[in-house]
Amino acid sequence: MTNSDTQNENLAQIGVVGLAVMGSNLARNFASRGHTVAVYNRSTDKTDKLISDFGETGNFIPSKTVEEFVASLERPRKAIIMVQAGTATDAVINQLADAMDEGDIIIDGGNALFTDTIRREAEMAERGRHFVGAGISGGEEGALNGPSIMPGGPKESWDTLGPLLESIAANVGGTPCVTHIGPDGAGHFVKMVHNGIEYADMQVIGEAYQLLRFGAGLEPAEIAEIFAEWNRGDLESYLIEITAEVLRQVDEETGKPLVDVILDAAGQKGTGRWTVKEALDLGIPTTGIGEAVFARALSSSLGQRKAAQGNLPTGTLKTFADLGLNRDEFIDEVRRALYASKLVAYAQGFDEIKAGSEEHNWGVDPRDLATIWRGGCIIRAKFLNRIVEAYDNNAELPSLLLDPYFNGELGDLIDPWRNVVVYATQLGLPAPVFTSSLAYYDSLCAERLPAAIIQSQRDFFGAHTYQRIDKEGTFHTVWSGDRKEIQV
Ligand code: ATR
Repeated sequence: MTNSDTQNENLAQIGVVGLAVMGSNLARNFASRGHTVAVYNRSTDKTDKLISDFGETGNFIPSKTVEEFVASLERPRKAIIMVQAGTATDAVINQLADAMDEGDIIIDGGNALFTDTIRREAEMAERGRHFVGAGISGGEEGALNGPSIMPGGPKESWDTLGPLLESIAANVGGTPCVTHIGPDGAGHFVKMVHNGIEYADMQVIGEAYQLLRFGAGLEPAEIAEIFAEWNRGDLESYLIEITAEVLRQVDEETGKPLVDVILDAAGQKGTGRWTVKEALDLGIPTTGIGEAVFARALSSSLGQRKAAQGNLPTGTLKTFADLGLNRDEFIDEVRRALYASKLVAYAQGFDEIKAGSEEHNWGVDPRDLATIWRGGCIIRAKFLNRIVEAYDNNAELPSLLLDPYFNGELGDLIDPWRNVVVYATQLGLPAPVFTSSLAYYDSLCAERLPAAIIQSQRDFFGAHTYQRIDKEGTFHTVWSGDRKEIQV
């Protein structure tokens, strides 16, 4: 029992609006931690179902109208919205704001675009309401048993909301997987990048599978064992763990591995795409995430793929036998390529968060993020402990890759990573994130990039000017006639 329970037994400490799967699981999570939870859904059937199925498991106060719902909340009122993103969210925010008073807190727990969250926060601030855009990761199971939560919004609201969110969040070694991320859209921004990183994480696992299956010719069940083994080492993570389970699954109808009968066209709901669009605007090369988003789009271009299959020249491809590789060594090289590419995707994601935070003056602490992503969320992984340590050692790291630990790891990863990219090319197996991440890495390390050529071309056709490496100033070459350089 919390203090507030004893103060007012007839009111709820928290309310949830929108009782589809995520909302009802979140409401049940709050109730299971001893909170009284007000619940409301536009159509009453979902509210009735929650109460009939789980009413016995905790204290719920169901309401049939928004006004009733708001009246059932303790002040300052705190209501989490879990409805469809977009106009539905705006409609519910306004209904709540109408029924609420000064200082009450509206939390949007959906996957809103952070610019919408910034707008909504400003609108609510004008009306004296606190608006908190909170990213919630962990899927249905996380919502029920402990998600990772990324709340933005005003700091004052965190003071009242924090303990409630801490009570339902995942917990790693006594640390709850929730913290105040920063003002207005900061929470939804980092949740967006979290999802972008998730896209890359999933894609690199897919690329490793592809190489083991169609390169080394291993069966899904054998690859399941390899992933289970990887899950006992540096790559230990939720996504590797569930992929091993997926690969063990046999289709009841056909007796084939389930992975073989699932259409290989990946869906997407938009957060990966948002991450890349925002990265483009911020000028941050999130190439791993970008390739992962494009890989999903390409997989879904079924007509184009069908037209190309068997109809475009592949050149001379090698077989696994042609490469003359030892199977176990190949498996370990693929593991290292996956690890290195994953590291690049995280480094790029953290770069985007840093740039977004600077752009919007949010003051996001990357160490906090690595800490709250260690549990509850889809990208939870042992590896995140290393990221926490990296930012502990140097809060101003220019890139995660330059942290001494990761730098050392890269020393062991780089040669196998290069080899795997070469093998993939020779085998004709696409590995877009492995490949582009290596190009990113080599670009970072290169002493000279071809950008000098691009600057010259720009100056040639558009007099866009350039700078020199040996003196200050801005220069333009007159490319016609005598071709002389002038300082501009
Ligand atoms: P999920 O993906 O978890 O199934 P969703 O599609 O994101 O959920 O959101 C569905 C929820 O949004 C439902 O609770 C729905 O209410 P109904 O059960 O009445 O359909 C709610 N929702 C959608 N549009 C809404 C609106 N305009 N006002 C209020 N709630 C709305």
